[in-house]
Amino acid sequence: MCGIIACIGSDDAVGELLTGLENLEYRGYDSAGIAVQNGSDVTVRKRSGKISELKEDIAAAVPAGAVGIGHTRWSTHGPPTDENAHPHTSQSGRISVVHNGIIDNHETLRRRLMDAGYVFESDTDTEVVPQLIEYHVDRGASVEEAFERAVDELEGSYALAVMAEGTDAVYATRQDSPLVLGVADDAYYLASDVPAFLEFTDRVVYLEDGEVVIVTPDGVDHRDRTGAAVDRDPEHVEWSAEETGKGRFEHYMLKEIYAQPEALRGTLSGRIDDGTVTLESFPEGTFEDVDQVHLVACGTSYHAALCAERQLVRAGIPASTTRASEYFDLQTVDERTLVVAVTQSGETADTLSALRRAAAAGGRTLAVTNVVGSTVSREADDVLYIRAGPEIGVAATKTFTSQVATLAMLTHRIAQGAERGTPREDAAAFFRELARLPDRIDELLAATAAETVSRQHIGRQSYFFIGRDFEYSVALEGALKFKEITYEHAEGFASGELKHGPLALVTEDATLFALLTGARGDETRKNAEEAKTRGATVVAVAPEGMEVGEVADEILRVPDTHPDLAGLLANVQLQLISYHTAYGLGREIDKPRNLAKSVTVE
Ligand code: F6R
Repeated sequence: MCGIIACIGSDDAVGELLTGLENLEYRGYDSAGIAVQNGSDVTVRKRSGKISELKEDIAAAVPAGAVGIGHTRWSTHGPPTDENAHPHTSQSGRISVVHNGIIDNHETLRRRLMDAGYVFESDTDTEVVPQLIEYHVDRGASVEEAFERAVDELEGSYALAVMAEGTDAVYATRQDSPLVLGVADDAYYLASDVPAFLEFTDRVVYLEDGEVVIVTPDGVDHRDRTGAAVDRDPEHVEWSAEETGKGRFEHYMLKEIYAQPEALRGTLSGRIDDGTVTLESFPEGTFEDVDQVHLVACGTSYHAALCAERQLVRAGIPASTTRASEYFDLQTVDERTLVVAVTQSGETADTLSALRRAAAAGGRTLAVTNVVGSTVSREADDVLYIRAGPEIGVAATKTFTSQVATLAMLTHRIAQGAERGTPREDAAAFFRELARLPDRIDELLAATAAETVSRQHIGRQSYFFIGRDFEYSVALEGALKFKEITYEHAEGFASGELKHGPLALVTEDATLFALLTGARGDETRKNAEEAKTRGATVVAVAPEGMEVGEVADEILRVPDTHPDLAGLLANVQLQLISYHTAYGLGREIDKPRNLAKSVTVE
């Protein structure tokens, strides 16, 4: 986890580093810091807390300089203190380092360096990096040689940017953690993710594992792990800085909820034509050899994958969804097993590990992701982009909708291609309706009563979410979103399971959200009654035309659509419920405590 940024050759390195850090804050926000090079001096400013606090500190005396590195942290080793904030420096202060990832052999390296007389100040794994570089410099190596020797000794995952006194270069490399080079007319940038520097340039070079760049204001020396020169032209990224700003909304999460129609139009564009599906990268014959599908994912992406599993099974294709961190029984994986890694960021360590285990076991891998150039997109055999545009709010919203839609198209193509697959009979009607879904979401957003309803329920003891069929995944997703940003106790259940245990939790102080959309909404209504009888307040999420009856204390309506898509509309209502409840409770909606958007540790 964490975000790193470097700025090389700008007139306003400090301003651009701070902007970059704010853009990366979704990757972690426990502490932040910068180091700026000015002639032979390097000034380091860092502290625990948010970037806004660092900014206030710096405003009093802004360090001058054209080259700098910066970091925003999500703690893994050591608490979020000033000492543990990056950049970390070597004993003499000559070398400064920012790092995203984990150095697995940091204890061994630390012991060795301490035995050699180097004194450590922090609890972090990262501090071994500047000390190790200094160790080699102290023994006669140039900074460049010392950097390379130190990197050779590191085990684990890292994206590193390093500065040394007396040179205006930034030395950077990556292994299993993302790092992108931004190329502007008069400056260069390095960052964990493109939105960090999108205000300054949209031309990027994605670095590969093991590659090293030495960047000065005059140019870039780019080499692969054997030392051979790399000459890769910058790519133009389509995301705009405007897309990554908050616009007229108070929070990214709300902006992204309201951006769902547009995001979904992007997802579907050119892929559905009058009820038939064309997926650019998967022409006829692509899935002929697929006997079974394994889906692996975490969090919200896991809930999206559950929807796909159901569609595949209904199309006659054996499919199962596993939380990526639990994917280790790979006995049945072979070259006829398609392993689909679903990950918005494309950088989730648990998902990447699952993908690598699947590939090692002989499986065929496919990534479904939002981020072009992400690690998953480069490691999987094939990739399918959800094209939802950048998502900054830590709580995933528009990407869930786009994931489910993308997976619906993918599962249909698999069902059409695989020998044992039988595509859904109502495919034309289903995909026509999917193409109309952005308009339905627009309608829902214009008429939602979620804000008013959420106000009635603030301060309850527990919140339950129930659904059946696709709505079961939505119930899980609704509860995850709710607990994530409100910090209130929330659980999602298959509605039929309520009576097998969870009913014991239901009291008069509980609110139950019952998803009555979809083909099995009527059955869920009966289960909601079981909770109502035990005193729970019931909020029904129901289609326009449904007669809900006495069971519901309140109703959130969704426009009529295909029953297998109605859950997506219900999910939008639940996103709004979570948002407005969290707002009412004064929570940090875009940066919930203890969480980060991109979880790059296992
Ligand atoms: C929930 C949320 C997380 C992510 C999970 C996987 O709102 O954002 O649960 O869904 O960390 O992230 P990706 O999809 O990037 O692999």
